[in-house]
Amino acid sequence: MCGIVGAIARRNVAPILLQGLERLEYRGYDSAGVALVSDGRLSRIVSTGRVAELRERAAAATSELGIAHTRWATHGVPSERNAHPHMSSEHVAVVHNGIIENYEELRVNLTAAGYVFTSDTDTEVIAHLIHSHYARGNGLLAATQAALAELIGAYAIGVVAADQPDLLICARRGSPLLLGIGEGEHFIASDVSALLPVTQRVVYLEEGDVAEISAAGYRLFDTAGNPVIRPVQVSQLNDASVSLNGYRHYMQKEIHEQPEALANTLESVCNSQSLVPGIFGAEAAAAFAEVDGILILACGTSHHAGMVARYWLEEIAGIPCSVEIASEYRYRISVANPRTLIVTISQSGETADTLAALNYAKSLGHQHTLAICNVPESAIIRQSKLRLLTRAGPEIGVASTKAFTTQLAALFLLTLVLAKQCGKLDAAQEQRHLHDLRHLPSAVQAVLKLEPEIAKLAEQFVNKHHALFLGRGLHYPIALEGALKLKEISYIHAEAYPAGELKHGPLALVDKEMPVIAVAPNDALLEKLKSNLQEVKARGGELYVFADANTRFHSGDGFHVMQMPEHAGYLSPILHTIPLQLLAYYVALQKGTDVDKPRNLAKSVTVE
Ligand code: G6P
Repeated sequence: MCGIVGAIARRNVAPILLQGLERLEYRGYDSAGVALVSDGRLSRIVSTGRVAELRERAAAATSELGIAHTRWATHGVPSERNAHPHMSSEHVAVVHNGIIENYEELRVNLTAAGYVFTSDTDTEVIAHLIHSHYARGNGLLAATQAALAELIGAYAIGVVAADQPDLLICARRGSPLLLGIGEGEHFIASDVSALLPVTQRVVYLEEGDVAEISAAGYRLFDTAGNPVIRPVQVSQLNDASVSLNGYRHYMQKEIHEQPEALANTLESVCNSQSLVPGIFGAEAAAAFAEVDGILILACGTSHHAGMVARYWLEEIAGIPCSVEIASEYRYRISVANPRTLIVTISQSGETADTLAALNYAKSLGHQHTLAICNVPESAIIRQSKLRLLTRAGPEIGVASTKAFTTQLAALFLLTLVLAKQCGKLDAAQEQRHLHDLRHLPSAVQAVLKLEPEIAKLAEQFVNKHHALFLGRGLHYPIALEGALKLKEISYIHAEAYPAGELKHGPLALVDKEMPVIAVAPNDALLEKLKSNLQEVKARGGELYVFADANTRFHSGDGFHVMQMPEHAGYLSPILHTIPLQLLAYYVALQKGTDVDKPRNLAKSVTVE
């Protein structure tokens, strides 16, 4: 989604801004731009192509102060006129992430005051509004604060003025923004990865904060305008963790990083002899003792992780669990039970709908909140009482892979801890589960060996327009995740169904042109699944079955079997995810799509 970079220094910042934008490309965007201040003038350079094109256009530019942006269109089509930065009277320039809800009303007022709008964006009102206060004699900080007081909605902004070569203003409410601290130079960014080549020392702005930044220093103010001090943190990320390391795409690299990511996520548990609630935070034991139900809130792939967890939590821990799409829950009138544990799952920890759902749950009286998240400094982590960090490392590919499997591992730990607390897990069972968890990274490694076979199989999907994924029980959400991966990056329409539901509709779609992919673990539902697959075969459907050892499936006419290792019990969904990720990757690769940056999608969805 949209990305912001800004810099103020005693050297040319144009290369820093462009490099920062390149490092934010993974978030997804459709235009990019930069505004530079030099010699009392503001120059705006934009492009609707890749950042590389913007780099060519800005090759000759030099400046010691500038702001830059990658835009993911919300208001107005992707075009040069709608690209950020937006300017007012050639005097003030603004970059903005988020959505201003009252922009239409403000636009009417500003037009009446004589401002001429040159874009369809909500952002342009911010530029004119700041300018209108600035023109009345306020300083740039005061003008920005006055403008922000008139905005309704979400924003992270960077602001510069043509006649203020040593002043960069930024602010956030509802969208992430941080300040980077260098030696005699400062930076702003929506995502720390943009700044790693210049600094790892960062200050995360809190909700409503405004910063006044020069090359030499900075001052922070809270919503009320009072000076505040926020801690300087050293980011745990480094440059190596966001490079390709010889892989062709980040998605391929991240698929292969899963054994290590899982080992890291499970490290503290696997090195100990027993499970303790403390892994979720000091207050976890007391909170879990009060809990009589779970409500999981998440979006996209993270929602699928929650759906798997529901099977585990009810079956192993005996705790009622429901799972809701965050964007639905936040607007639904629901019956709140304060003894319910609210679990949010999010790779980024910044997804606007998940964050809003969490706050909505709190407003309904829910006290117990737990975040499962991959980004330690994120808003969702900060706003939850309990947390478990997945330690997948930065995930750059838009299609989530290692974040998903580490979320599953974290949710399995939650299940075991709750089961133990409820007296549903005896010592022998606990040790058996710990043993299985220790073995998980090497089990995933073994499944990754299927890669060449799956790359070959993918050739059969390249010319297809539709695909149907089937699974049952714990593996139905895995079928959903397989379908999501395929549609996200190969643009093949894919749907997933619980296999038992086939005859209630989707069977009508089955013919030779509709590949049917089945997730076939050797579990209690295997024979039921086999009957469902016969229904497909009898209608001439082409079946691709990912089958555990000893499931007695045999390849034959219209029946392709990919052999998985032995059944992994409750952890089987994690193993069965891997071949579906690889299938989507190789189909996309052969179709020649932009695997890591699929069209129209964004990595971190910070707007509603
Ligand atoms: C976007 C990403 C998905 C992700 C979803 C939720 O749509 O492209 O990969 O699953 O957001 O993101 P979160 O960071 O909250 O897990």
